[in-house]
Amino acid sequence: MAYYRINGGKPLEGQVTISGAKNAALAIIPAAILAGQPCVLENLPLIEDVQVLARILRTMGAEVELNDNGCMRIDPTKINNFDVTFDMVSKLRASYYLLGAMLGRYGHTALLLPGGCHIGNRPIDFHIKGMRALGATVEIKNGIVYAKADELHGAEIYLDMASVGATINIMLAACRADGMTVIANAAKEPHVVDVANFLNMMGASIKGAGTDVIRIRGRKELHGCNYAIIPDQIEAGTFMIAAVATKGNVVINNIIPTHLEAISAKLMECGAHITEGDDGSEFYLQVQGGDRLRAVNIKTLPYPGFPTDLQQPIMALLTMSKGNSYIVENIFEDRFNHVPELIRMGASINVNGRTAIIEGVDRLYGASVQATDLRAGAALVIAALSAEGTSIIRNIHFIDRGYENIEQKLRALGADIERVEED
Ligand code: UD1
Repeated sequence: MAYYRINGGKPLEGQVTISGAKNAALAIIPAAILAGQPCVLENLPLIEDVQVLARILRTMGAEVELNDNGCMRIDPTKINNFDVTFDMVSKLRASYYLLGAMLGRYGHTALLLPGGCHIGNRPIDFHIKGMRALGATVEIKNGIVYAKADELHGAEIYLDMASVGATINIMLAACRADGMTVIANAAKEPHVVDVANFLNMMGASIKGAGTDVIRIRGRKELHGCNYAIIPDQIEAGTFMIAAVATKGNVVINNIIPTHLEAISAKLMECGAHITEGDDGSEFYLQVQGGDRLRAVNIKTLPYPGFPTDLQQPIMALLTMSKGNSYIVENIFEDRFNHVPELIRMGASINVNGRTAIIEGVDRLYGASVQATDLRAGAALVIAALSAEGTSIIRNIHFIDRGYENIEQKLRALGADIERVEED
């Protein structure tokens, strides 16, 4: 098992380039199953979840080649294993996209219930409701989802919550359904739009992605294409917060500024300086932390609100702000597992239901802590980079799932971070 040793207190300085978006990649890889020809994906992040998904597709019979530049060629035409119930599937949440992709392409599948970070109950009832509305029979027995449809047909589907996963899963199946599907109260996250753009490149007809209502006209066939994934909003936000927390000065390259507006707004409210630039070929943000930052209140909300995936990282910053900050977690009911670890480092935080009250302290101190999930891991890295003294962060396999080369990127910005391999 590996761990991080971090000597804190060094401002991050320099430039960092953001990788492709994890949550777009994890949907677009299964979406490639819908094509009758190979697809080539570029700008994929080289993270553990992408590697696991590639192994799952290979076990299903697809040909998948992934090179060191984040370029993946997927030939789905040889898929011959529709029984997706092997253990690997439960390693990640995004394996739920195989439900929509397999139903759309082959009309049946058996899928082990997905895994992923433990940040709440995380049911998939909206996904199942969507598949049933499209004409599939879906049953869950012994932790396996059995889905079958002689023919999928378009339907009007209202989502009780704007679920990212359910919106994308329904889009995948609906692309190959007969007729028009309308998803109301659809999720608007940037990766929903990216998946829709990819499917449209394959010949699908999807309109309205990025708004509350998405309309999908089903097609009999989809073809292969080349597609480059958007930059990762959450990785960019993590580096922005780390820059501010360490009182650093970092240029964040390969970003889409509009995806980062909620984060920039909150960091500026804290007192950080953020300027947007365009070097002629891509946008960048220059992020500078100041002296002691002000407390702010945050409510996590669906896009374009403040993303739940950055709630944990920004809490690490707010532990060192001046005054009391309130964070309300509206998306997941149990996303405060990082709090006891931040308290070990000297933070003062009280949790009451979905609200965390953070009383800013002068400084955090290095400690031995454990990541409990992916973004909790990112929060602890930020806390350790800003703390006085040395921290040890264990369970970093969670961080490997979602951040490409995080220690190399941080070292290039001047951080004193070392990955130590243990027996
Ligand atoms: C995705 C992201 C995750 C991010 C989250 C919210 C992936 C692989 N993961 O997760 O990083 O934190 O979006 O932006 O892309 N819900 C139900 N029933 C369902 C589906 C969802 O009740 O069938 C609830 C969830 O419990 C949660 C809310 O809806 O309270 C939003 O969840 P959702 O947007 O679906 O998140 P995920 O797709 O799991």
